[in-house]
Amino acid sequence: MTISSNINQRQRFIIHLRAENKPLEHRRALTPSVVGELITQAGFTVYVEDSPLSCFTAAEYREAGAVILPENAWKESPNDGRIIVGLKEMPEEDTFPLIHEHVQFAHCFKKQEGWERVLSRFIEGESTLYDLEFLEDEQGVRISSFGFYAGYVGACLGVKDWCFKKMNDESKDMPGVKAFFDECELNNDVVMDLESVSTVKNITEPPRVLIIGSNGRCGKGAKEALSNVGIPKSHITEWGRTETSDPKNFKQIPQFDIFINCIYLKDPIEPFVTMESLNYEQRKLTTIVDVSADTTNPHNPIPVYNIATVFDKPTVKVEVSKGPKLSVISIDHLPSLLPRDASDFFATHLFKHLTNLPNRKEDPVWKRAEDLFKHHCDQL
Ligand SMILES: NC(=O)c1ccc[n+]([C@@H]2O[C@H](COP(=O)([O-])OP(=O)(O)OC[C@H]3O[C@@H](n4cnc5c(N)ncnc54)[C@H](O)[C@@H]3O)[C@@H](O)[C@H]2O)c1
Repeated sequence: MTISSNINQRQRFIIHLRAENKPLEHRRALTPSVVGELITQAGFTVYVEDSPLSCFTAAEYREAGAVILPENAWKESPNDGRIIVGLKEMPEEDTFPLIHEHVQFAHCFKKQEGWERVLSRFIEGESTLYDLEFLEDEQGVRISSFGFYAGYVGACLGVKDWCFKKMNDESKDMPGVKAFFDECELNNDVVMDLESVSTVKNITEPPRVLIIGSNGRCGKGAKEALSNVGIPKSHITEWGRTETSDPKNFKQIPQFDIFINCIYLKDPIEPFVTMESLNYEQRKLTTIVDVSADTTNPHNPIPVYNIATVFDKPTVKVEVSKGPKLSVISIDHLPSLLPRDASDFFATHLFKHLTNLPNRKEDPVWKRAEDLFKHHCDQL
């Protein structure tokens, strides 16, 4: 095959970015800059559905060279080989067979509620689901994830809650937060809170922060955020499996001001904190950020709360009777507070693999994802 015929073949390859339907989901799987590169570098045609929820405007996508379509246009679009790309689950009320191939987070391979219904739609439409959560390289490392920005946002909210508690009496809870335009805007907001604590309350000592799982994707994001808002290295303690392998170390946890949990829970482990370990007068800990948010997992290592919090009400109080007020931030969609940066990080890591989509039957990354899909379909 000549180079030009190869490009011609690629020019016909279509990616269709569908609108997200979940309330408050402002992120997109593809950003205008990645769309532009798919068009200019890979020769793809890219359709982008306009969406009132999107953190990027239709004008930005159009400028990048995309063809703009109305929301949900993919449902009526022909099966012309296009791949439908999205982030979150499709609306539950839809039941029609899926005739296109889809790239998305479907949350059905761990047999989550409704997994049979989701997979049946692909089987009935004789199509394939490539689940973004399980798109992995040869070493089993995920190709693209939102973890970094989950940790980033979690750490920023943790510092904000610590500041709020210093500025307000215990009857008040940190108010809701809305999506920030970018990392810089969020950093400035947190720095302003720290400055208020310093100038109004004359508390110049920054909070002491513990991150468990600090070398993972979320942990790295948390570290970067703390550094960007000016928490000195001397005030950040990092723990991994070595430190948590000895539960005696857990006694130190209540002596930090903020504890950020970023572990990937696979097997049952001893809880990091319990109601007993936190219930004493001299406790310093006032804010736990549970980025991992294994809230309903029976092995949740932070079994002192039981709800997932939301941006409108970011904290839940831990019902201890002794010591200062203690709250948990357990938001399970943290990256949505920085939708543009988080989407950019995610889409940039995905880009190279998207360009391999025309050869997905041979490409190891896409092939593994397809095999995994078939494996789960066989279990139906
Ligand atoms: N809240 C949100 O919005 C959000 C968003 C994305 C991911 N997450 C969750 O965050 C968690 C972490 O994701 P990730 O992508 O950073 O995972 P990761 O695999 O990149 O990192 C996890 C880290 O935890 C460490 N770890 C695991 N068990 C440990 C233990 N018992 N003690 C100490 N360290 C331990 C690992 O060594 C690793 O360094 C996952 O549960 C993920 O689902 C939450």
